[in-house]
Amino acid sequence: MNTIENYKIISLSYRNTALSILGNFVFGEEKVALREKLEFIKAQFELQELMYLATCNRIMFIFVQQSPLSQEGAADFLSKIYPDVAAEDLQAACQTVQVYESEAAVQYLFEVSASVDSLVIGEREILRQLRNAYDSQSEMGLTGDCLRLLMRFTVEAAKKVYSNTAIGEKPVSIVSLAMQKLFSLPLSKETRFLIVGAGQTNQLVAKFLSKKDFRHFAIFNRSLNKAQQLAQTLNGTAHLLADLAEYKNGFDVLIACTGATETVISPDLYKQLIGNETKNKVLLDLSVPYNIDQSIVSNHACTYIEIEQLKSLAQENMGFRENEVSKAKALLSTELVAFLQLFQARQIERALRAVPEQIRAVKDHALNNVFKNDIAQLDEASKLIFDKVLAYMEKRCVAIPIQVAKENLVRRQ
Ligand SMILES: NC(=O)c1ccc[n+]([C@@H]2O[C@H](COP(=O)([O-])OP(=O)(O)OC[C@H]3O[C@@H](n4cnc5c(N)ncnc54)[C@H](OP(=O)(O)O)[C@@H]3O)[C@@H](O)[C@H]2O)c1
Repeated sequence: MNTIENYKIISLSYRNTALSILGNFVFGEEKVALREKLEFIKAQFELQELMYLATCNRIMFIFVQQSPLSQEGAADFLSKIYPDVAAEDLQAACQTVQVYESEAAVQYLFEVSASVDSLVIGEREILRQLRNAYDSQSEMGLTGDCLRLLMRFTVEAAKKVYSNTAIGEKPVSIVSLAMQKLFSLPLSKETRFLIVGAGQTNQLVAKFLSKKDFRHFAIFNRSLNKAQQLAQTLNGTAHLLADLAEYKNGFDVLIACTGATETVISPDLYKQLIGNETKNKVLLDLSVPYNIDQSIVSNHACTYIEIEQLKSLAQENMGFRENEVSKAKALLSTELVAFLQLFQARQIERALRAVPEQIRAVKDHALNNVFKNDIAQLDEASKLIFDKVLAYMEKRCVAIPIQVAKENLVRRQ
């Protein structure tokens, strides 16, 4: 039987791990490779259930396991599953990794999903990412009953926070903060935008850009159809990412945001893109890990915008929401109590599922073996009464343990 202690979370978050380090721990999006990686982790650490989530400010492994989890255990976990990460980054991550188990793990997940613990408080994007990760990984067969129950409750708890507090009002997001920063720069109608990536984040970026007067957009993406959709929103041109090196029209603002785990804009590619231009460029990189090679930022005239720098803007946002965070935490504490009750009831229900079958087996054994000869000597009327008594006893015996367990649960609450 599972207990609440079996819920565990290993988390690397923006709170104490630099995003430049955190980026090294993001798995690629390709489904087959991701599945193989997660199956390996599940088997290696003998986890009953497992789920992995990467957002732009956190990486989490949520799992169910019987043995206790320590800080050293989490460090060992990271070391074994990230053998290719540079030793100093791995060491830094092992020192800052956060470990949660039991009720604390449930509470942490609630707070993350309700965006109470985010870089940008109140950003709902996290809930979408969490649901997507769960749906795809339960399809992969990595999760089971404990995570299903936890996820169902987590999503409901987060929704309650969003609808009963003002935490998500006047919505802000990483993207809106980045755009605020971008629009504070001297840009004009003639500014040339080069956009790399056409996923959720750049679609949001495009919404902000489309409200301004800019006219020159070139969108590059790995698959052309998504680039075309974005080009339509922005009235720009769509291209394959593979053709980026051939692009000769120059740019003033480069926005790079893809799910790639390798650098997308290398120093050589950058040189080709700027050609002979030497004037200052704006580089906006919202990816984790970064898509624009860091040496470009040091070696070229540029104004650089990335997520880490947005922390101070996010802090101002936090000021406005502090009150709401307290309300959200109080609401989540109530939800935690409700979850613990539900979890216990569920475990008892599961444990008792075998009771009716076992009682029926005892009855059958008594009839067909132990008392077989005695029963054979009874007349038909006595047999009928005997059957009735046995059926009554069977029904009562099935009900007793369920009733006792429920009474115990109520008494403990
Ligand atoms: N979602 C957010 O709110 C948010 C906020 C800030 C930062 N971020 C960060 O932004 C990045 C992208 O997130 P997203 O939510 O936009 O992802 P998404 O919706 O899944 O889109 C991923 C994009 O990246 C492209 N891509 C994926 N793997 C690639 C590879 N190996 N090489 C080249 N292109 C690749 C995809 O191309 P195809 O269309 O061809 O698949 C797609 O355009 C992540 O690093 C994320 O952490 C996200």
